[in-house]
Amino acid sequence: MIHAEFISFISQFLPQSRIDHSLRVAHSARDLAKHYGLDQDHAEIAGILHDVAKMLSPDKCREKNLPTRPETNQVWDQFALVWHQYAGADIVAGAFPSLSDTILAAIRWHTTGTADMAPLTQIVFLADYIEPQRPFETRPLIEKLAYSNLDQATYALARLSLAELINRQIPIFPESIQCHNFYLSKIAKKDAKVIVHLLHPYL
Ligand SMILES: [Fe+2]
Ligand SMILES: [Fe+2]
Repeated sequence: MIHAEFISFISQFLPQSRIDHSLRVAHSARDLAKHYGLDQDHAEIAGILHDVAKMLSPDKCREKNLPTRPETNQVWDQFALVWHQYAGADIVAGAFPSLSDTILAAIRWHTTGTADMAPLTQIVFLADYIEPQRPFETRPLIEKLAYSNLDQATYALARLSLAELINRQIPIFPESIQCHNFYLSKIAKKDAKVIVHLLHPYL
């Protein structure tokens, strides 16, 4: 791991367990980027930084003078678990103005996904789920799909996430639905059918 400045940046905001998770996501994202011939450093940096706002809140950001956009406070009020993706992208943009928009977008959509993501954004969305210490029963299945087809894997993860939110009676953030709909229409119908068949025991 070569990006010491980013690791020391997240260390100000995250406990060790979450730093470890971020490093595993960075590693998984780098491996996927290598597999698809994408920029491995961008993938790794986005992975390291993706959860920087996980333990923060709008109040804490104000206290610490961290630049988050006030309109994201509405997200906090209704969808507290989603807020950290927006706040994270804002904080990283403020701290590292030279980082590419690709990295910021990967941070901004890592929780919900969205429609029409760049491949690097899809990679970080997937890496957050398939890093090796995630305990999910469906982790190996999503990992296998992630290495065979990014759009199919993104659809599968979006479908799985929607089912989980519905089953746990957690309100669904609109971007999660956008993500599901976009990738459902992007992949072939027969592939979507196979995926739902594979996921069926977990839906
Ligand atoms: Fe996150
Ligand atoms: Fe994460």
